[in-house]
Amino acid sequence: MSKLKKSDLSVGDVAKRSGVSVSTLHFYEEKQLIHSVRNAGNQRRYNRDVLRRISVIKAAQKVGISLNNIKQAMAFLPTNRAPNKNDWQRLSKQWNTELDQKIKELHALRDNLTNCIGCGCLSLRKCPLYNPEDQLGSRQSGAVILNRKSST
Ligand code: FES
Repeated sequence: MSKLKKSDLSVGDVAKRSGVSVSTLHFYEEKQLIHSVRNAGNQRRYNRDVLRRISVIKAAQKVGISLNNIKQAMAFLPTNRAPNKNDWQRLSKQWNTELDQKIKELHALRDNLTNCIGCGCLSLRKCPLYNPEDQLGSRQSGAVILNRKSST
């Protein structure tokens, strides 16, 4: 854990600079995505690199990476110094496979929806979304058909 520095930011400063609410910052901290130290008055103080961490968290969430996954990736960032370019590159490489899979799933979703929106036939022969009487419900919950289509 880093030591308190004069340049450290209060939770209000971080909220203002990052555009993230104080309650969200507390949530991120509770989930160990960001870290603070306490000053003599027992107030949270954040190293300035927290702003980049929050940007990465927000960007990753925006593309559908889970908080757990973000936490795992961020666990490899140094805590005794601000992460450098290499640290961030290493982190982003961890998500390449997942992002490639998400792109593949989005393409499959786009293709299926393009075919089905405005169609409504739910044809047994041609509709990629048709699941009569929830036959796939016994195997898995959720959009099983889309999962199957995207994994092929
Ligand atoms: S609803 Fe017609 S192809 Fe899916």
